[in-house]
Amino acid sequence: MKWFVSAIAFLAIQVVSASPLEKRAGVNDVATLGYATLNGGTSGGSGGPTTVVTSLSALTSAVAGTITGNTVVKVGSNTSVLGRNAVLNGVGLRVINVNNVIIRNIKISKVLASAGDAIGVQAAHQVWIDHLDLSSDRDHDKDFYDGLLDITHGCTGVTVTNTILHDHWKASLVGHSDSNGSEDVAITVTYANNVFSNLNSRTPSFRFGHGHIFNNVFDNNNDGINTRDGAQLLVENNVWTGTDKPLYATDEGFAVARGNDFGGASNTAPVGSFTSAPYSYSLVAAGSVRSAASSAGATLSF
Ligand SMILES: *[C@@H]1O[C@H](CO)[C@@H](O)[C@H](O)[C@H]1NC(C)=O
Ligand SMILES: *[C@@H]1O[C@H](CO)[C@@H](O)[C@H](O)[C@H]1NC(C)=O
Repeated sequence: MKWFVSAIAFLAIQVVSASPLEKRAGVNDVATLGYATLNGGTSGGSGGPTTVVTSLSALTSAVAGTITGNTVVKVGSNTSVLGRNAVLNGVGLRVINVNNVIIRNIKISKVLASAGDAIGVQAAHQVWIDHLDLSSDRDHDKDFYDGLLDITHGCTGVTVTNTILHDHWKASLVGHSDSNGSEDVAITVTYANNVFSNLNSRTPSFRFGHGHIFNNVFDNNNDGINTRDGAQLLVENNVWTGTDKPLYATDEGFAVARGNDFGGASNTAPVGSFTSAPYSYSLVAAGSVRSAASSAGATLSF
């Protein structure tokens, strides 16, 4: 299926009612924010042919192939996977050992731990995750489901925008192990304009690399941003409610924090050295972040 490698795949697996917040988006959009804009940028399948798929089997052949049966779909290089009212129930996406991938406007829910994370990005470079809705529930123990959005094995150039992560135990793990520093010190991830809500932990948990986390909303999570193992985070203009640990460190992680509203709690992370992101961006004032993030989730129309 090599000729599909630069295809843009549309999913229409399940129809859900259109959101009143729906925003117009283009199939040839490229990443315009954060680390995904560096190193030649992230264009996915922009400019390539468009393939419309309406079944899981068609999706798997369009984007690259399956692993672990039909519960995980592997996405190839130079590919955009764009949802049109798309819902993947119990089906995760994997971005592994590839470059230049865009995933936008898809709801993924209740991916069992036996299948792994809802979105798993590993050893991949230039990846834009945008306008996703990722969730499960908290009715089971914390290992019934795995992560919602895990970014591991030395990924660089990853941007996560306009995405809702909600109702889950372990949300977003960046760097999978305390002993993977040689590969993970290179990690670069931007999180902007996302909503993290009703999560237990990992909002995100960030090891070794550089992370820029700005203009996100964090509501009613047990835990906050955990900077670990020498990670250098730049944390700007985010807002929190309902946690007493909005930003903290484990094993000598660091953060430069400015312009945040910690919801009455305190940042306890040691001050780091990451004071300036290597790209331009605009910050929304903390008081306006919540309204700016109100169109997060799978609210696009193509
Ligand atoms: C992706 O596109 C780049 C740039 O055109 C090309 O060098 C690379 O071989 C492509 N990768 C695959 C797997 O097709
Ligand atoms: C990091 O992960 C890679 C890929 O799994 C592995 O080959 C390597 O040995 C790991 N390194 C460490 C220090 O754990």
